[in-house]
Amino acid sequence: MTDTPMISLQHVDKTLGGRKVLDDLSFDVERGEAFVIVGGSGVGKSVTLKHIIGLMKPDRGHVVVDGQDINEMKEVALNRFRRKFGMSFQEGALFDSMSVFENIAFPLRRQTKFREQQIVARVDECLDLVHLDGVASKRPSELSGGMRRRVGFARAISLKPEILLFDEPTTGLDPVISDVIAELIVEMDRTLNTTTVTITHDMKVAFKIADRVAMLYKGRIVEEGTPEEFQQSTDPIVRQFIEGRAEGPLTE
Ligand SMILES: Nc1ncnc2c1ncn2[C@@H]1O[C@H](COP(=O)(O)OP(=O)(O)O)[C@@H](O)[C@H]1O
Ligand SMILES: [Mg+2]
Repeated sequence: MTDTPMISLQHVDKTLGGRKVLDDLSFDVERGEAFVIVGGSGVGKSVTLKHIIGLMKPDRGHVVVDGQDINEMKEVALNRFRRKFGMSFQEGALFDSMSVFENIAFPLRRQTKFREQQIVARVDECLDLVHLDGVASKRPSELSGGMRRRVGFARAISLKPEILLFDEPTTGLDPVISDVIAELIVEMDRTLNTTTVTITHDMKVAFKIADRVAMLYKGRIVEEGTPEEFQQSTDPIVRQFIEGRAEGPLTE
């Protein structure tokens, strides 16, 4: 079992709003791997993540996670299944009416029978893992963008997930803070021994985090490989994206 992929998308089709967003999409993510999906806006990156956690089901094809096919799971099983995942959404999606502490404690209160003392200890541990100090009683709105992202990460890891998903973790941050956040993702992946899937349109972030990079275009993977292999791609679509040029097949 342990050499089967952690995540396997097999010939997935998905039509949304009358448009085929995923078109025969297939890829595998190995256990422990840091997999990064890049692509322009609207190509279906977030839709792909939603399939991985079973928030969307394919019209055709299979999504198999840790040997389980999400098509075959009912809602109750899916809810249990989702505990495998820690998800950090774009912008952090924190509750602004709650303190940082309560934001991170939220999944623990909902999903565990931890006593208050255990909750305090676990929140502390999570804040430590993301290198945040002295902010537990603050509101998210009192923090910088980079710090809010860290709080989102701390919440995502509170239940000790096997798989971490990051949707655009550095969007809206300046280049320096983006780099710091990318480094934190690498560090978390190593320390926590997780499988990670990160979605980004920032190539610098992608190359820093990835064991393997895949580019999504027109509903499927047009190129994949290690950062070194990916950087040497001769595919004109990939070249235009990496180089951030206005002219090329992406803008025709
Ligand atoms: N629930 C939905 N209903 C209809 N269309 C959707 C839905 N979710 C996403 N889409 C469409 O699917 C396409 C891909 O969306 P998305 O995966 O969010 O793109 P991105 O690559 O920027 O993350 C977009 O055209 C979007 O409008
Ligand atoms: Mg998206």
